Amino acid sequence: MLNRDDLLSPSIQDKNAGNSGDQVKHLIYLSLLRELNNREVNPDVVEAHGGKGVYVSSHRHLLRSRGLPGYQDSLLGRAQTACFAEPPAGLGGISGLRLGEVPYAGSVAMHAQEVKAGRCSSLTILDKDPGVQAILERVVSEPCFSAVHGRLAIEKQYGDSEQFLLSRLADGQFGPHHVLHFDPFAFVMSQADLMTRMTYGRLVQECDSRIGEKALKSASIFFTWGSNGTAALADLDGNGYDGGIPDGYQALLSLVAPERRIVVVWCWEMYFAQLVIVSADLKDQLVKRIETETAVLRPLLSRLQIVA
Ligand SMILES: C[S@@+](CC[C@H](N)C(=O)[O-])C[C@H]1O[C@@H](n2cnc3c(N)ncnc32)[C@H](O)[C@@H]1O
Repeated sequence: MLNRDDLLSPSIQDKNAGNSGDQVKHLIYLSLLRELNNREVNPDVVEAHGGKGVYVSSHRHLLRSRGLPGYQDSLLGRAQTACFAEPPAGLGGISGLRLGEVPYAGSVAMHAQEVKAGRCSSLTILDKDPGVQAILERVVSEPCFSAVHGRLAIEKQYGDSEQFLLSRLADGQFGPHHVLHFDPFAFVMSQADLMTRMTYGRLVQECDSRIGEKALKSASIFFTWGSNGTAALADLDGNGYDGGIPDGYQALLSLVAPERRIVVVWCWEMYFAQLVIVSADLKDQLVKRIETETAVLRPLLSRLQIVA
């Protein structure tokens, strides 16, 4: 059983875990898998920013969502319940939690559970923080994942996962069943992040053209502006942050062919956006599914927009 102390190496993720950014992002990941499960072979998921997999959360967004009628039966609620079900079905909860804290399964635990449920063929996890990697090892070694342990891989030999995956894409190491998820910290607001944005420009172009050729299944990028709502609104509704910085949010979105582009924008105190790239024949169905599956959180969000 995981213990609270196993999960708390210092990280800014902890204070955000379970917030509305996480919840909608995770609903999008799960919606994509459900949509892909309606078709051919189950996907191989690659997470470029895996995170800890399991979090101790006391975030007010999570506490509010869990109280919503319909949350427990929602795709997210059911995935969370499955992750913390009694072993050997699930992880069985976290011991030592303090008053007001609840367990929250991050993307890695949810994807690993999807592998276990047979809705994903494999999960490859990257995270450049050694402390986070150690927690990931601990999480995927839990007994509930023993039957699929060989299909859960933590990659260790790299610096920034963006460069690593870009070179893997160039080497043709991904195929038509791979789904790549990028979940970086904020990178669209600072001149200092220009190199990162340029890398994302190349990644978006590579992923979009491969998805168009059906040589890659899907890719997604999560955007956050942190607490800078002014920057978010300039990017979401105006001419772009600071007049549209090079390779900024709007420029990155414009690199995707409109027939393959889905952008989900939402707000609960902070603004978030998720770019999802899928082949044109998948797009309409996925938009409908995201609309349906995110509806549970609608009462709590001041904005939820799915731009197809
Ligand atoms: C927002 S958290 C991930 C949350 C997780 N995907 C989830 O939804 O549960 C971002 C993670 O990315 C890692 N990270 C940040 N920059 C990175 C980079 N350039 N390459 C690989 N990992 C990175 C951090 O260590 C952190 O664990």
